[in-house]
Order: sequence, then structure tokens, then C-alpha cells
Amino acid sequence: MPGALALREARALVRDARRVVALTGAGISAESGVPTFRDAGGLWRTYRPEELATPEALARDPHTVWEWYDHRRGFLATCEPNPAHRALARFFLRRGTAGLITQNVDGLHSRAAHEEAGGGAPDAALPVELHGMIARDRCNVCGQRAPGEPLGDHLPRCARCGGLRRPDVVLFGEQLDAASLASAQSMAARADLCLVIGTSAEVYPAAAIPWTTLHSGGHVIEVNTQPTSLTRAASTAVHGKAGEVLPALLE
Ligand code: APR
Repeated sequence: MPGALALREARALVRDARRVVALTGAGISAESGVPTFRDAGGLWRTYRPEELATPEALARDPHTVWEWYDHRRGFLATCEPNPAHRALARFFLRRGTAGLITQNVDGLHSRAAHEEAGGGAPDAALPVELHGMIARDRCNVCGQRAPGEPLGDHLPRCARCGGLRRPDVVLFGEQLDAASLASAQSMAARADLCLVIGTSAEVYPAAAIPWTTLHSGGHVIEVNTQPTSLTRAASTAVHGKAGEVLPALLE
């Protein structure tokens, strides 16, 4: 269970905050069974990102890249939102203001929001998905998006231009969607509190989000099982599992 003093301090910051943003990473989905990337058992401890998660890898060996994403997509479809996703969804549903920013592509925040809203969640409760969404495809040529389908015998092709379809996720070295990034940065600049949950805070530009709030005079609360490069700058760091901390912090 998290440290009582840190949790008490963090609860006071949440209570007093007027505009809250939350940046989440793979750690918030760990208790849903979704592997993280860099900590023990993480995907980049087993696989080499340059072989599977770069535009060069997709061009060089599209079948292998597709097989890896198709496997991840199939596994993620069996995962459920955990108490951390649900507590965060209820928090933003109660506040009615947009503020959820995620690096995750697993779709678990959106599922939690719709389930906690009892059906169609308002846009304010849905996340800005900075790194895309694995269940969706995007044409590598014209950019048209389409719902993802299980990989068949042939690589998927765009219905509009015939180009190669690829998972609608940001690969290493690719630009993030400019509108999503601008929205996240604007939310962070106007926030007086940024919750940073389950991220190693190493991958930019997402990792700059909490610093934007800090530089605007706001506070940062970090929720993580390990210290990160952000911990020293955080107003409060709550050491613990997101699935245990967030219900205690937000409700
Ligand atoms: N509760 C809270 N934090 C946790 C938990 C948990 N149950 N389990 C793990 N963590 C923490 C780890 O200590 C680590 O700091 O979650 C963090 C996960 O860090 P990463 O594996 O680096 O994942 P993330 O920060 O989301 O990576 C950012 O890098 O590979 C790219 O595009 C990918 O979006 C990803 C980005």
C-alpha cells in the first residue's frame, strides 16, 4: 500500500486543484496484464524496437512488423480496464473537464470511460491518445483510418488508394499527430495539477507534459512503483501500484 503521508499530501493537492491533467503510461495498464516496455518483463527487454516499431522496420519487413502488432492487438482485446483506469474515468466524468492524456495504445482508458458512464462517455472523459490506438489501422500512403481487422494471408491494403495499411500507432522516429500534441500541451499549460501515472517519463514529447504544468506554476503528483527522472521535480511522489493508489487518491 502506498505511503500514507505522500497519499495524504497528494489528496490535498487533488482536492484544491481547479484544472487537472493526467499523463499515463504503460504502468497504468500493468495490472490489466498488459506488458510495459522498460521495466522488468517489459517488451523492450525481449524485443528490439528498431526491428519492430520503426518506419524502417515496416518498410524492410512489413510481414514481421504486422505479425507482432497483430499478436499484441489480439492479446490486448482480452484485457480489461483495471481499478486505476476506472477511478481516473470516474474522476474526469465527475469534473466534466477534459484532461486525460495517454501514451498507451491499448484503448483501456476509453473502455473504462464508456463503461463508467454507462454507455457513451462524453468527449471530456476520453483520452488524448498521443501515441495512437493499436486497434485502428491507418494507410501508410494516404493516411485514411479504418477499424483494424485480424491479419489474413495478405497484408491489409487501403480501400481508398491501395496503399499498405499499418496499425494506427506512432512508431519510433515518427511525428505525433500535431493536433493531439497541441491539445495535450495546451491542457498541461492551463492545468494547476498534473498527475503522472505509470510512465518512465523518458519518451518525448509526451514526457514534457508534466514539465509544462510545472513551468506554468502548477504541481505534479507522480504515481509509480519505481522512482523516475521526474520524481525529484514532483510536488509529491506516491510509491505504489496505480490500481491501489488511484482509487485512494481520487475518491
Ligand atoms: N503501477 C504504477 N506504475 C507502474 C506499475 C503499476 N502497477 N507497473 C509498472 N509501473 C511503472 C514502471 O515503474 C515504469 O516507470 O510504469 C512505468 C512504465 O514505463 P515504460 O515501460 O517505459 O512505459 P512508458 O513510460 O509508457 O513508455 C513510453 O515508450 O516504447 C514507447 O510508445 C511506447 O508509449 C510508450 C512510450
